[in-house]
Amino acid sequence: MLANESVNPIRKGRALTPFSLPVLPTGRKAVGRNKEPRFSNGVNLTLNTQHSTLNMAEPLLEVKNLKKYFPIRGGILSKPIGYVYAVDGVSFFLNKGESLGLVGESGCGKSTTARVILRLIEPTEGEILFEGKDICRLDRKGMRAVRRNMQIVFQDPYASLDPRRTVEQIIGEPLDVFRISTKKERKERVAYLLQKVGLSPDHARRYPHEFSGGQRQRIGIARALALNPKLIIGDEPVSALDVSIQAQVINLLEDLQKEFNLSYIIIAHDLAVVEHVCDRIAVMYLGRIVELAKDKELYTAPVHPYTVALLSAIPIPDPKITRKRIILEGDVPSPMRPPAGCHFHTRCSRKKDVCQSAIPKLTEIKEGHFVACHFS
Ligand SMILES: Nc1ncnc2c1ncn2[C@@H]1O[C@H](COP(=O)(O)OP(=O)(O)O)[C@@H](O)[C@H]1O
Ligand code: SF4
Ligand SMILES: [Mg+2]
Repeated sequence: MLANESVNPIRKGRALTPFSLPVLPTGRKAVGRNKEPRFSNGVNLTLNTQHSTLNMAEPLLEVKNLKKYFPIRGGILSKPIGYVYAVDGVSFFLNKGESLGLVGESGCGKSTTARVILRLIEPTEGEILFEGKDICRLDRKGMRAVRRNMQIVFQDPYASLDPRRTVEQIIGEPLDVFRISTKKERKERVAYLLQKVGLSPDHARRYPHEFSGGQRQRIGIARALALNPKLIIGDEPVSALDVSIQAQVINLLEDLQKEFNLSYIIIAHDLAVVEHVCDRIAVMYLGRIVELAKDKELYTAPVHPYTVALLSAIPIPDPKITRKRIILEGDVPSPMRPPAGCHFHTRCSRKKDVCQSAIPKLTEIKEGHFVACHFS
């Protein structure tokens, strides 16, 4: 067995709340204190260990009215005959050093939002401001500079690592792409990063198939850290892992964030996963954010009927507390034909006539708590 697959489920000093995952002690050992190597060509990739509270309120990322409609083509001329309204007017900001959870059922547009923010695909409409600059207006050179600061950790640690490459080649690839290091420096940095994610420098020579799912995800995290980014987007980073391993990886992400002052967007289809690691949570339904609030507030005082229903499905491990399970009627409508007005009206028990024609705006109902419902 390789490093860090131990199975003590609860991190010391932390209570399990009704929505908690068991939390495992990665501790400071996993996020090792080994010395960070430097580069001979003057590039400074020193990970920022100053967890400043001063810059907490500076937005790193602002997303404004983001839309992504995928054309559906048909006929012999392959003309658009319709659209998949995958992301339909999403707005939020992310402060430096903050983590935001993006939660919603499968197909609601979470991954598309991530891919557009990273400009892996182009938006149909909207603005993406990274450190105040609209990245949609940047040319290839400008975008290359921004890309160093934005990295992604994918859902499937089996599919996201090239099986023919060694761990050193995988983690060192971003350094090669940006021509940052000599061979020796790359080796040193890979060893450093492996220790930071709770693996051993000896693992650098091995291939992905020699690792478990949790360890592969640690390799994916090390790769994301290679260029000392400011933002990491985790697209369901633990969904494919066993529950006990999920908690270890979540702990690792949390420790790395504190140590390196990273900002995160953590995507999940399950509210329980993001609770630990996220400061604020945005709930998505059919391409739109329906509620956004600080984590505790969202879990204890949800307002949007969809959030209330999602939370009611999470069991509370305390027999004294009971909560009525709300079963949503019907399926999520197709994003090719989203309902008019409030997208949620076909399943909402509180709907009125206005809900079928007018789109509810995401409105601040109290400080930092935003809800898109005509009756909130
Ligand atoms: N390249 C694409 N072309 C057409 N439709 C797409 C494409 N990528 C995603 N979609 C559709 O967009 C919707 C949102 O997908 P996605 O963002 O992957 O959802 P999530 O990550 O929340 O599960 C889904 O209906 C999906 O089928
Ligand atoms: S706007 Fe209407 S349909 Fe939508 S969540 Fe509110 S009450 Fe329900
Ligand atoms: Mg997805």
